[in-house]
Amino acid sequence: MADKVSDAKDTLTVRDNRTDREYEIDIHEGDVVKAMDFRQIKVKDEDFGIMSYDPSFSNTASTRSSITFIDGANGILEYRGYPIEQLAEKSTFLEVSYLILRGELPNKSELDEFTGTITNHTYVHENIKTLMNSFRYDAHAMSMLISGVAALNTFYPEDKSIRDPDYRWLQIQRVVAKMPTLAGLVYRHHRGLPRVYPENELSYTANFLNMLFRIGVREYKPNPVLERALDVLFILHADHEQNCSATTMRVIGSARTDPYSALAGAMGALFGPLHGGANEAVLRMLRRINSVDNIPSFMDGVKNKKERLMGFGHRVYKAYDPRASIIKRTADEVFEVTGRNRLLDIALELEKIALEDEYFVSRNLYPNVDFYSGLIYQSMGFPVEMFPVLFAIPRTVGWLAQWEEMLEDNEQRISRPRQVFTGKPRRDFVPIESR
Ligand code: CMC
Repeated sequence: MADKVSDAKDTLTVRDNRTDREYEIDIHEGDVVKAMDFRQIKVKDEDFGIMSYDPSFSNTASTRSSITFIDGANGILEYRGYPIEQLAEKSTFLEVSYLILRGELPNKSELDEFTGTITNHTYVHENIKTLMNSFRYDAHAMSMLISGVAALNTFYPEDKSIRDPDYRWLQIQRVVAKMPTLAGLVYRHHRGLPRVYPENELSYTANFLNMLFRIGVREYKPNPVLERALDVLFILHADHEQNCSATTMRVIGSARTDPYSALAGAMGALFGPLHGGANEAVLRMLRRINSVDNIPSFMDGVKNKKERLMGFGHRVYKAYDPRASIIKRTADEVFEVTGRNRLLDIALELEKIALEDEYFVSRNLYPNVDFYSGLIYQSMGFPVEMFPVLFAIPRTVGWLAQWEEMLEDNEQRISRPRQVFTGKPRRDFVPIESR
């Protein structure tokens, strides 16, 4: 048996039954084959060759990446090798941001410098304020944020120079710094409140809370439990490898687009209810269910495919999302300060039923990051429209890390998938009177 293992070649032998020819395809890194290796398999020389068909990329790696590791079967999430549980317990969002962006945890002076740069770049041009003021009173917060981020490109037109790593690092820190400021402008516009400028002596999350919630006081001091809870939530949302929005960021960036336009695209992907918009959808769902008594009929609707249990299920996790476990614990700490969220009982009962129900068990559907986060946000005073924004702020770090990794990767070219054409074969134009 031992001999067999040592003799084994890391290849696939592929037999084309159309031609009786055999091909040897290399297996890389244990279980990876290169799709381009299949192009040599043809019936006639002029054929295109075999290509793989993988709608929604369920079994296709689009890149090598060293940023985030997920083991979906065992509910494991690591940033640059560090388990998410340790980072959530022992680290801060800015420290984790540095780790994700630079690859290693910062030492004291590196963290001080990074924090200083972020703090110094929090202001936005006053015209961005004017832009935000131009939206209707009920414009969705995420749409406003997307517009604000896209507009940043008009203020930094030199940011086309994405090939220079030093300049790129400045661009990255600039955006990470400005995201809370933009989100603050969005919130205050909704509320019709005067805008609050960044306070440099506050932490990243405290400054964010200050720009949203400071009213009628000269100095704003958030409750430390809530400030820390938000920091933990930001850590949990910072990156999640090749998800829909990270892929969007890479695809747009592969055309060498400026980072602001690419971020706006990634944020558009995040906004969808199957992705980062799910936290908002969960809260609206819980409100609609309204009472534990209504859960059975709601669950019948889910199982009959009339609707989805939002905040449940994941393409990669087939076990409990590790972020959801941490969020559940954080929720308890937050509710000690804010009082228990009325909708928590409905959420807990939904989870209890789902974890025992054959429909959910057989499909490996567990709570994901969005199931409990909305309850925390609501208890902290954020309106539901801000929930996707609260996801986008920390995920900006992940998007930028993914974007930079893509730019530095010599194997990456402009993203351009193939298609299997199913339309009409060539035919002649028919004049309108003959149709
Ligand atoms: N409620 C009810 N049924 C579900 C759900 C759900 N939330 N999620 C998946 N299913 C069913 C689905 O109907 C399908 O059943 P069947 O095999 O009978 O056709 C099966 O489970 C597999 O689902 P899928 O849609 O093929 O799975 P996917 O990997 O394409 O979708 C997902 C993943 C996250 C989009 C999906 O689970 C979903 O829509 N969840 C609700 C939205 C949500 O919470 N999104 C947040 C994801 S985590 C954070 C983030 O990515 O931003």
